[in-house]
Amino acid sequence: MSHQGLIIFDTTLRDGEQSPGASMTKDEKVRIAKMLEKLRVDVIEAGFAIASKGDFESVKAVAEAVKDSTVCSLARAVYADIDRAAEALKGANTSRIHTFIATSPIHMKYKLQMEPADVLAQAIKAVKRARNYTDDVEFSLEDGSRSEFDFMCRITEAAITAGATTINVPDTVGYGEPQEYGAMFKRLMEAVPNSDKAIFSTHCHNDLGLAVANSLSAVMNGVRQVECTINGLGERAGNAALEEIVMAVQTRKDIFPVQTRIVSEHIVSTSRLVSGITGFPVQPNKAIVGANAFAHESGIHQDGILKHRETYEIMRAENVGWNTNKIVLGKHSGRAAVKARFEDLGVTFEDQDQLNAVFIRFKALADKKHEIFDEDLQRLVSEAASKVEDIYALVSLDAYTKTHQKPEAQITFTVKGEQKTATATGSGPVDAAYKAIEQIVASATDLLLYSVNAITKGTESQGEVTVRLERKGQIVNGVGSDTDIVIASVKAYLNALNLLEHSAVRSHPQHGV
Ligand code: KIV
Ligand code: ZN
Repeated sequence: MSHQGLIIFDTTLRDGEQSPGASMTKDEKVRIAKMLEKLRVDVIEAGFAIASKGDFESVKAVAEAVKDSTVCSLARAVYADIDRAAEALKGANTSRIHTFIATSPIHMKYKLQMEPADVLAQAIKAVKRARNYTDDVEFSLEDGSRSEFDFMCRITEAAITAGATTINVPDTVGYGEPQEYGAMFKRLMEAVPNSDKAIFSTHCHNDLGLAVANSLSAVMNGVRQVECTINGLGERAGNAALEEIVMAVQTRKDIFPVQTRIVSEHIVSTSRLVSGITGFPVQPNKAIVGANAFAHESGIHQDGILKHRETYEIMRAENVGWNTNKIVLGKHSGRAAVKARFEDLGVTFEDQDQLNAVFIRFKALADKKHEIFDEDLQRLVSEAASKVEDIYALVSLDAYTKTHQKPEAQITFTVKGEQKTATATGSGPVDAAYKAIEQIVASATDLLLYSVNAITKGTESQGEVTVRLERKGQIVNGVGSDTDIVIASVKAYLNALNLLEHSAVRSHPQHGV
């Protein structure tokens, strides 16, 4: 079978970031973007430039840092958004403006409060405006899967005539079903007279757990771009997972008439980087990147695999980057070796002070842990480049547990530089430590999620803890890591409290024009 190219459009930094609490700083976005470039993603949607000054700066920084992938910014179908996107993308080697407007009856009537004819006219104006800045313009029919077919045909044809080079029909609310959604693309491409002048694209949400199935069905029906995110990160139940799409078409080359240029060996490290930065842990049974994805527990399976690998294994763990986290550094590694390894990971330091700060952390970790893996290094950078100036900072923790006795924790931390100490008991040492913190902070938050993961293998590994806190509708994810998981838990809690104090207000692209 001859295979055509399938464009992988990653929107982890835009749609992924729309998950409550997943917000990333500019530096974190650049680190992820550099990793996506190494993965050989074709298009990186770096953000929604007009959302805030921070979003603009992030899109700009990604545009300047990435050379091999096209960098894209989202823009509603209004001039101000498009102009701002173009401004942010100025430094890019190759750039794309992605403009969109809702086309379903329910969105047009209640969200936009516009007549279909006006929506059509606005779409045309937006695409033309974007074409003034770049030849690469994507137009999305938001809530496309619930739009009326005739209207979709009209707006698609008009957008292509106006200069759109990619037409994206999202399943915005995750309502589509594979057969119906795939067939819709085939029908649309057949009905629109100039459809051969554009690439058709799929963008699916996972509300019914069908995002990947829907995307693959679209591919089977002629779509040549898939929009997806690492780990399926995204609002509500998330977006289609990049790793699942890529490995499905690679593993089933016999049925999919497409191939991607993704370097699949970088999938696991990219997944870990995104989960570490956003604080969204990966469930153990998640396909491709979950800790159990390649673990063959039962004796029968293991026996089969030992005799002949393909009996139970359809992909090789090493092809997606498992088992490749070699020991990279240790206690005796010098500054130059540490710097060189970071450079390999796409992390550069602005000045000597920044490198020194990370190196001090590296030495402290190497004293506790003999083998330092790439994943440990990524965590070190995340912690050293703390998202915010700390209001709360840990000084010391004394946690006590013994069978048949109530766990107790005494914690000392600074609040704007002033040292405070509290003691509490709890159902476990983490619970006790959190209660002690709350005696001082009284944060009035709800703990939505507490999760612990091992960063690398073995009991010597650092534990990475995520704490999701909510206060008055504002959600943040704090992350902390340490070889001691109680300390990691306390760091994560204080990090979340710090983030709450600093979290910025930004506009959401899909909540009206
Ligand atoms: O889900 C959606 O419809 C989107 C568009 C803005 C492309 O994210
Ligand atoms: Zn979306």
